[in-house]
Amino acid sequence: MASMNPNIRIFEDLNKLSAAAADLWIESARQALQERGRFLIALSGGGTPMNLYRLMAHEPYRSQVDWSRAHIFWGDERCVPPDDPESSYGQAKQTFLDQVAIPDENVHRVASDLEPAAAAEDYARILGRFAESGLAFPRFDLVLLGMGEDGHTASLFPGSPVDVSTPTLAVTAHYQNRPANRVTLTPIVFNAARRIMFLAAGAAKAETLVHVLKEGYNPSLYPAQRIRPVNGQVIWMIDQAAAGKLSQER
Ligand code: 6PG
Repeated sequence: MASMNPNIRIFEDLNKLSAAAADLWIESARQALQERGRFLIALSGGGTPMNLYRLMAHEPYRSQVDWSRAHIFWGDERCVPPDDPESSYGQAKQTFLDQVAIPDENVHRVASDLEPAAAAEDYARILGRFAESGLAFPRFDLVLLGMGEDGHTASLFPGSPVDVSTPTLAVTAHYQNRPANRVTLTPIVFNAARRIMFLAAGAAKAETLVHVLKEGYNPSLYPAQRIRPVNGQVIWMIDQAAAGKLSQER
């Protein structure tokens, strides 16, 4: 049953939001390791998760995850070299992956130096290596997602095709001054996840959150609404600034 009543948790500020997200990360990992002996997480790019990534690189959080049995993926990636400041992989590597004892072979970056279509095909093959439940890809234990001011999530942008049957997609999109060519997971992968945690902070997201969380289903205009896991939990972790218009719901 798709989660029709999203679980919305509002925090005073981004620091408190990030600490709660770190606790949920640890809980998700503990449960996955107990049930399946491995923890599969898909990270997000953008600025909002940076505080969370920094927390995971230090105590008391770092030692609460068995990194040797964790596998890191990305929900989307910009088609730039891995050492480019705009690389979501490079951002996570610098911020926490280099500080935790995770085997290199457990970090599954998008081959962002390939042509976008080839990188998307390559990533679909990597996902296939972790396939389960009769799918061509894994059921992620935790997916971190952000939300753009335009309602996009990962690299699913307004106006992009809604019903896509492939697990990955090469897209070209223009958002703020970020790299345009990207590879993204698609809703069939996200919606197979066991837990999805959206992180959204700042007043600039407040209006869009009303459209996404409180108004009709309009997935072409608000792609974040396409994230409706079939058998999984969606948790919106938002700060008071981003929640500013939710309480005055229309
Ligand atoms: C990316 C992300 C993207 C991001 C949103 C929100 O690679 O940029 O996948 O979907 O989560 O654009 O970005 P902020 O957290 O910077 O607002």
